[in-house]
Order: sequence, then structure tokens, then C-alpha cells
Amino acid sequence: MNTKLQEIAANIEKHPSETSGHIYHPLPFPEFQHLKTSSNPKSAYHKWDLIQRAIPSFPVSTSLKMLDVGANAGFYTFNFAKLGVHVDAYEPHTHYVDIGQQIVEATGLPVQWYNKPLEPPDLNGRSYDIALMLSVFQWISQGNKHLREATDLLKLIANSSHLLFFELGCNHGKSHISTNERSISWIWRLLQQNSAPKQVYFLGTTTAWGRAKRYLFACADHPIHLTRWQQTITHALNKRWIR
Ligand SMILES: C[S@@+](CC[C@H](N)C(=O)[O-])C[C@H]1O[C@@H](n2cnc3c(N)ncnc32)[C@H](O)[C@@H]1O
Repeated sequence: MNTKLQEIAANIEKHPSETSGHIYHPLPFPEFQHLKTSSNPKSAYHKWDLIQRAIPSFPVSTSLKMLDVGANAGFYTFNFAKLGVHVDAYEPHTHYVDIGQQIVEATGLPVQWYNKPLEPPDLNGRSYDIALMLSVFQWISQGNKHLREATDLLKLIANSSHLLFFELGCNHGKSHISTNERSISWIWRLLQQNSAPKQVYFLGTTTAWGRAKRYLFACADHPIHLTRWQQTITHALNKRWIR
């Protein structure tokens, strides 16, 4: 056990950042395992599993660069950093960035934290092997209010990365996007129209809160190996059989 990580965990217990838990999502170190998360921890591990399986030749090469937009306390950031991936993590919530930064200092993992929302100039001259936009698009767009700006940012992130993982649910949650369409097809169209020439692949369904569904997709420059079920849904979305 790392005593510095144990101290960080004890401090999180003393000053929880969520009303229904100590922290939003789990932290992938044994020192944090006893903390209560406000989102479903099984969903975070399920998402991580779907992401790993979609990455060609996993475990990844240590020279990879990754962007995590809306990293929160760093569940995905630190899972990748533990493999040697260099991560740029953007998170406007100071409390979470403080936790993330303390973990970097305690472990020496290759993560650069930015305590701000990601903005277009941040991408100038940068490119990433992998980018994550997991349950963050609805916060960037503030529901339907700033959809144009959020979509422009999505396009830039897709252009600046080889493989983008994107997760979203519509019509539920604090800052949600409202649509009369099925959420899955609305998200599919958003990604098809704004990540071209990448191919869009359906990876799976997640449930961070109760039964409210979110959908996880990959937008990739190269073919991704899918399970039979992922292939079936991707094909149906492509053919517009699911609307
Ligand atoms: C629902 S949480 C998802 C966290 C993590 N990506 C995950 O999937 O577990 C959304 C996170 O995005 C952050 N966020 C909100 N607005 C943002 C923005 N404009 N840019 C980047 N991150 C933002 C929030 O502070 C929060 O940590």
C-alpha cells in the first residue's frame, strides 16, 4: 500500500465531494477501494472493459498520448496512465483536479491535469492517439443550449485523435440533451456527421444511475474488432433500421 494514497483516501472520506457518496466514480488503486461512489462503480468497470476490448493490440504501447475531456477524479485517466500512456486530463471541477494532482504526486504517473474545460485553442498543434468524451458532451453543450459549440468541439477532438470513445445518454440527468428521436440514433447521427472520415462503432450500453441508459461508441481511423452483438447493432444503425 502507498501511504500517500492512503492519506488522500482518508482526506476524501473526511471531505466527500458528492451528496450520495465520497466521490463520483471509483479510483483504480486498492487504497481507494473502500470509498463509496455516487455513480454505479460496476458501470465504470464495464465501460473500461468495453474500451480496452476496442483498442487494437491491447495492452497499449507506452508511447501513446491520450486526451480525457471531463476526467473527473481520473478513473479512465489513471487506468490508462498505469499502462504508461501519457494523459492530458481536462476537468473544470477544482476539487477533483486536486485529488487527481495529489495522486500524480504520490505515484509519479504520466498525467498532466488542466483545471479548466477543454477549449478549441487547447488543441492547437496537438494530436492524440486516443481521446475520451465520456458523459461530458451534455455538460459542454449545457443540454440543448450550446449544441452548436459542443458539436464544433467534438469535430475538433475527432480531427485531433485517431480513436475517440464517446458516451452519452439523452433525455435524463441534470444537464441533459432533449430529443424526440431514440437517444441511440441521435448520438449515432451526431458522431457520423462530426467524426468523418472516421468509422463509427457501437460498443455497448452503460447505466451510471439507476436504469437510465447511456450509449458508448468508438470513432476510429482503423477497423475495430467487434463482438457479434456490437456488429449487429452497428450494422442496424448504419442501415438506419434503428431510428
Ligand atoms: C458525468 S461526469 C463524467 C466523468 C467521467 N468522464 C466518467 O465518464 O466517469 C462529467 C464530468 O465533466 C466535467 N465537466 C463539466 N463541464 C465540462 C466542460 N465544459 N469541459 C470538460 N469537462 C467538463 C464535470 O466536472 C464532471 O467531472
